Amino acid sequence: MSILLVRNVQSNILRYHNRKYARFVFISFDKIAKATAVKDWVGTILKDFQITSEATGLKDYKNFKKKKPNNGRILSLHFSAKGFRKMGFKKTDDGLPKDSAFWEGMEARGPSLNDPDKKNWEPDYKKNMEAMVLIADDSISVIEDTMSALDKSLHEKKIGEIIFYENAISKKNDSNHNIEQFGYRDGLTQPVFWNKERLLQDKWNLVLDNNRGGSYLVFRKLEQNVKLFNEKVKAMSKQIQLPESYVGARVIGRYKDGVHLEDGSYPPVKNPDPKRPTNFDEDPDGMKCPFHSHSRKMHAATYDEKQRMIVRRGVTYDDRIDKKDPEPEKGVGLLFLCYQASIENQFETLQSKWANNPDYPQKHTGIDPLIGQTDNITKRPARRVGYNTAKESLQLNGTVTLKGGAYFYAPGIPFLKDIKSYPRKDNFNSGYNIGSVGFGILSSFSSVNGNSGGFNY
Ligand code: HEM
Repeated sequence: MSILLVRNVQSNILRYHNRKYARFVFISFDKIAKATAVKDWVGTILKDFQITSEATGLKDYKNFKKKKPNNGRILSLHFSAKGFRKMGFKKTDDGLPKDSAFWEGMEARGPSLNDPDKKNWEPDYKKNMEAMVLIADDSISVIEDTMSALDKSLHEKKIGEIIFYENAISKKNDSNHNIEQFGYRDGLTQPVFWNKERLLQDKWNLVLDNNRGGSYLVFRKLEQNVKLFNEKVKAMSKQIQLPESYVGARVIGRYKDGVHLEDGSYPPVKNPDPKRPTNFDEDPDGMKCPFHSHSRKMHAATYDEKQRMIVRRGVTYDDRIDKKDPEPEKGVGLLFLCYQASIENQFETLQSKWANNPDYPQKHTGIDPLIGQTDNITKRPARRVGYNTAKESLQLNGTVTLKGGAYFYAPGIPFLKDIKSYPRKDNFNSGYNIGSVGFGILSSFSSVNGNSGGFNY
């Protein structure tokens, strides 16, 4: 039963793939390509390229525990709504995913997220993104070879082309932990979908589309201006006479090494553990970790908020020409990726109702310092930055900029296998009727990418 379940879900959704290199390959189908030809091509991908499922994730975990290498190349296939339309599908069709945000697309939903105008996006992201293939491996040549073969399969069948790709690089700190471009440890707080004893299927509703074993993916290229971020933090540190590390921690909610702000200062606890689950019960007034910090703004504390948790699979990118520049102003950032069961209830709620809302979680909190988007400076109320000091406002606008993105869907593997039979009435009795499982109380949500969880099968 468990094997059947994990075999139905594409990889990197329930567990981070943890490969050294990853490439996101964006595909546009030929205008004259027929729906049946695109569906045939999906068959080719399944047969010749082997789409990896979460069964690989389970095996990886076992190998990880035994200090053995992982199970090789990962490949997963995603479609945008444009791609689905190309295959002749529409939202109202039987057996198709129903999320409205997905069918409308990121560009159309942009105004409700306060996103910058698409005319300011990178030219590649203005192209017709219809499919996206994730290829990941520990060897870059495996990725290159796979992409060439993919390109060949599109040309041979005359159905489309690769329009561009993004390379992910895992930026690490001295302790070999994943960090984002401002230098902070990232990927710490995540929902967990299996633990040592069992698959936590009751939580899978967070990430898997009801009944289909598929998941929605939000992809956003977020450029980070490291120089500007450091300058602003430095200036504030001088102004309020408190260490830069502390000012930065009040922006993120954690220190660079991931230690929770409320564990690391005034007074520091012994042996603070970055992996401990976030819990603000001891800090109800935000005196230790301010409400405006990114981690606190984005933290799901209540039962209702926990239903909105996303699975973050973001990775850093580095397109700099001068790779030695320690404080780049552009060319570096985060390829923000998150999987979820509903884009509207999860990512869009986090972005528009939490990050962009100056009155969340408390009145006059201010928008999220990193990702809050507003065209109105008065929506950035003065925030406390220093300990017990009022009104110093650290304006971080311009440090993170959306350069493009799209909404995708990673179908369940049975759907891909049977794609030619869709649209059709779903009759999922093959053991992955996840929709019938209730949420239950969601607990133990904290994990570190690739290093936690466990399972028996
Ligand atoms: C360049 C952009 C971003 C940077 C540099 C960034 C950085 C970070 C860092 C350093 C953490 C703390 C470590 C951790 O818990 O994993 C974090 C947590 C988090 N971020 Fe971001 N992030 C970015 C964009 C986003 C976006 C776009 C969203 C969603 C709309 C988001 C949602 C979250 C969530 C849900 C958490 C966990 C909060 C918690 O419960 O503790 N982040 N981020």
